[in-house]
Amino acid sequence: MSKERLDKIIASSGLSTRSEVKALIKKGLVKVNDTIIKDSSEKFDCETDDIVVDGKPLRKGKYVYIMLNKPKGVVSATNDNKDLTVVDILPEELKRKNLFPAGRLDKDTVGFCLITDDGDFAHDILAPGHHVNKTYIAQLDKPVNFEKARQAFFDGVVLGDGTVLLSADLDIIENGDIPTYKVVIKEGKYHQVKRMFASLGSTVTELKRIKIGELPLDENLKPGEARLITPEELRKITQKAHNIV
Ligand code: URA
Repeated sequence: MSKERLDKIIASSGLSTRSEVKALIKKGLVKVNDTIIKDSSEKFDCETDDIVVDGKPLRKGKYVYIMLNKPKGVVSATNDNKDLTVVDILPEELKRKNLFPAGRLDKDTVGFCLITDDGDFAHDILAPGHHVNKTYIAQLDKPVNFEKARQAFFDGVVLGDGTVLLSADLDIIENGDIPTYKVVIKEGKYHQVKRMFASLGSTVTELKRIKIGELPLDENLKPGEARLITPEELRKITQKAHNIV
């Protein structure tokens, strides 16, 4: 890995914002290879240099895993000619090369978008055979017949183009004239949840992803906010996350 500014390396680890990190460095609270460094702009290699911040060693992880609470109107891509992407809206301290969204949410879908630079990890959580659950909350234009819909989702919906979907779970989380539904799917086909409800005659009007695997979206993240996912949290998504220190 190439060298980067000390304040950028520490801020990228998610410990503090860039300005807080600069203050820590100025106070002499940051050591690199056992030497106090007071110049934030000095460059180091986060993989080989030992960086200790206020007595705590910095994680030497090779990859980053970011939880973004995706707002509406932003596209799940790395770049786009027209719209802002989920990578564009990340705070500067979390940005680094090669980040991409692991799985796509539609432009009008909100919620948990996982952004990483670890291709193997993304494959692990996206491959339908690996059965990592993705949980969504859906609002519809009109209710579905719940028992019928639940059975159809469980049996595996057959889409208009003949695609047979894996078994999915359906629940009601809030009753009302039009209930709010929770859907758990194990794959991520194009417009999958919308097409599942469309097969039952209803249109999804609002869609939010609230969980990947067993890791819920952090409720403290406002739409558009992001933070690093901790190694413990990553293990709630998949046990196969072996690149994590
Ligand atoms: N299913 C959809 O229809 N849209 C999404 O964004 C995600 C799942």
